[in-house]
Order: sequence, then structure tokens, then C-alpha cells
Amino acid sequence: MNSIKVYLNGEFIPLTEAKVSVMDRGFLFGDSIYEVIPAYSGRLFRLQHHLHRLENSLHAIHMENPLSHGEWEELLAILVLQYAGKDQSVYLQVTRGAAPSRDHTIPEGLIPTIFAISTPFPAVDPQIYTRGISAITLDDIRWHYCNIKATTLLPNVLLRQEAKERGAMEAILVRDGLAIEGAASNLFIVDDGQIITPPKSEHLLPGVTRDLVLELAAEADLPYCEMPIKAEQLDSADEIWLTSSTREIMPVTHLDDRPINNGKPGELWQKIFNHFQAYKDELR
Ligand code: PDD
Repeated sequence: MNSIKVYLNGEFIPLTEAKVSVMDRGFLFGDSIYEVIPAYSGRLFRLQHHLHRLENSLHAIHMENPLSHGEWEELLAILVLQYAGKDQSVYLQVTRGAAPSRDHTIPEGLIPTIFAISTPFPAVDPQIYTRGISAITLDDIRWHYCNIKATTLLPNVLLRQEAKERGAMEAILVRDGLAIEGAASNLFIVDDGQIITPPKSEHLLPGVTRDLVLELAAEADLPYCEMPIKAEQLDSADEIWLTSSTREIMPVTHLDDRPINNGKPGELWQKIFNHFQAYKDELR
């Protein structure tokens, strides 16, 4: 795999040669943001939406975008070309850069560290689409700016690990009695025939897949609304879905060990999933 190159600060170099300073604020403070962008058949999916969110994350942590959108497009295109025509996911990260000393306040004049890598997309286990996945509910222990795609992910790591140890694939996070989103995914439920997802706020990441699901629902004339979801609504929901760039739209068929929709992916999930696949195919 040595011929596979990653992007680091203006250069395409082998992964094993990509090194960052121990004084980098991304390393010391998690002072950095990231994006994960899928590429289907080698074509970046919803790229402008991801670049727009990247812009918002940088703005929220008082950083300028170190590259223009054109420069991002160019470097990402080079990365995905290495797995030409294949499904892959691109990870990119921008840190505030390395400072001479460790100081919580932000020093002037730092040069951001820019890193990007593409890796082949692991195929989604087909059983997910026939059996669905299990999730558990957990207290949302994260901070108050979850709309920023920050690399400071320790709460998400611990929540996801707890889910795994309890035999579940994802944790659905509850804050002040409301179900917010997954540890690394957005939340949808179907209640009384209506698709519901929580409105955007600083408590959740504005997911690119989430927005596409709403667009597809509108195009297909399926009833949907953006509305807070009470934790109790999860118990009575007809369907629960979780969405993300790496796992698309997952039907949750067991929540806290109780079956949802008799333990089977629901009808509306199947519809939206088909629209999603058709949308992807149009871009191939
Ligand atoms: N995570 N909410 C959280 C907390 C997330 O971490 C993610 C995605 C999403 C879904 O966003 P999108 O549809 O834009 O991928 C929602 C990525 C995949 C990750 O951290 O690897």
C-alpha cells in the first residue's frame, strides 16, 4: 500500500511518511475540525454540501479556510483517483497548527495543518438491510456545540464503545428528555405515517445525509417534518432510522432490546432507501 498517497500540507506523500508535530494543537487540544465525504464509483458525493459545512465549522472555531473551494476540489479529486471508479470515503482534517508552546489561548499567526486521506468504502453488511440494526439510548454527555464537526470526539468514542459492549451498533443520545441524534449519525423516526427528524440546532450535527433524506422525501411526496423528538416517542415509533455519510440510511429494528416494527425494517425506510440508491446511481 506504499504507493497510496495522502495529502499533508500541500504535498501528496505516502501515509507512512505523513508526520505531524507533537506541538500541533489538534494533537494537544483537539483544536481542529474534520469532514467525511463519500465517493461513489470514484465520484465525490454532495461535495459542495460538505465544503459548506467545513466552512461553517472553521468559522465557528474562528479559523479562515486555508484553501479555496477550488483548491479543495482539486486535491480531493487527486486523492480519489487513486482508487479510480471505486466507492471510498475521504477524511479531511484542518487543525489550528503547531505552536511553540502549549497554551490554551490561541496564538497569532499559526499555520494550519491540513490532512486528507481516501480509503475504500467497506461494503455495508447486507444483513443490515434485511434485519436492521440494534441501538441503545444513552445520556448525551457531549458539549453544547455539536453542530461543529470538531475532532474532539471523546464523548462520542465512549458512547459508541458502550453501545458496542452492549451488543448495539449505535447509541441514540438523549438530552433534556429529547432524542437528539446518534453518536455518529442523525436520527429519524416514523410516527403515525410521518417522517420526523429533530430541527437543526447547536445540539446536533447538520448531517449531509439528513438533508438529502429530507430532499428525497419532499420529491417523493412523503410526509415529513423537522420537530423535536421526545425520548418516549422512540418507544412508540413505527420506524427509527439513523443516517450518515459512511452508513447511508440504517433501519433500527431493536432499541434497548425491544423490537421496533416487529424487528423488521419498515416500509417507509424501504421507500426512502430505494430513492437514495436511485439518486446515487444517477451520479455514477
Ligand atoms: N459522522 N451526527 C454525528 C455526531 C456524526 O458524527 C455524523 C457523521 C452525522 C451524520 O452526518 P453526515 O450525514 O454528514 O455524515 C451526524 C461521520 C461519518 C464520522 O464521524 O465518521
